[in-house]
Amino acid sequence: MRILVCNTPAELDRRAAEMIADAVRSRRDAVVGLSTGRTTGDIHRAFVRLVRETGLDCSGVTFFGQDEVAGVPRAYAGACYTMLKNELVGPLGIPEERFLMLPTESDDFGRDCRAFMDELEKRGGVDFLFLGLGENGHLGFNQPGSPFGAGARLSVMYPELQERIRRETGTPADKPLGGVTMGLKDIMQARKLVLAAKGPSKAAIVKKMIEGPVTEDVPASVLQLHPDCTVLLDREAASQLAL
Ligand code: GLP
Repeated sequence: MRILVCNTPAELDRRAAEMIADAVRSRRDAVVGLSTGRTTGDIHRAFVRLVRETGLDCSGVTFFGQDEVAGVPRAYAGACYTMLKNELVGPLGIPEERFLMLPTESDDFGRDCRAFMDELEKRGGVDFLFLGLGENGHLGFNQPGSPFGAGARLSVMYPELQERIRRETGTPADKPLGGVTMGLKDIMQARKLVLAAKGPSKAAIVKKMIEGPVTEDVPASVLQLHPDCTVLLDREAASQLAL
């Protein structure tokens, strides 16, 4: 793991955007994965600015999202599809055929997960995947206890997120909500990984991820085993590290 500590959140956004740009430059038809959340929104906007300023050619690139909210309409503002569309894919004019997402609704998530992973493979496999970090150590919707060997699948959502989504979408308590996600095995197969974490609420889990044992109780700890993984932190998220 390579650890980079940035002086400010804005510096982190710029460096993260540069790393996505490097991935785009690495192969004309690069396959570039993104994650949603509070951390990555500003990074995506920084990337859009960088593309506009430099004229970076994204015309051959496939962008995809590593996870999705299951059980809500795709147009819901908190669905990963809509977030990525608003933050990056729409502003850059990426066409639908080069924007791959897992579905929010399906009668067979297992089939759709296999089709999604097959399509990424057909396009040459994942060159680069940008990750966020949950406060409990989750990656995508791989919650604590997720097997390191698991592939893409329908998984559970943590209670706080579930509550917020029910409130925002008016989803009744008896309708199941979940997260459909690439598995930890799929994430580890990406050629290059970058994870970003910002703010004091991530400091304790950042320490466990980097300095703790590799354990399924902390899904992100598996990244210690990846041959090309960079962790981008602001000062607050890095504050408990023994650097
Ligand atoms: C959600 C997403 C993850 C993301 C995580 C971190 O759970 N499904 O893909 O990495 O949140 O989000 P935030 O940056 O808002 O803390």
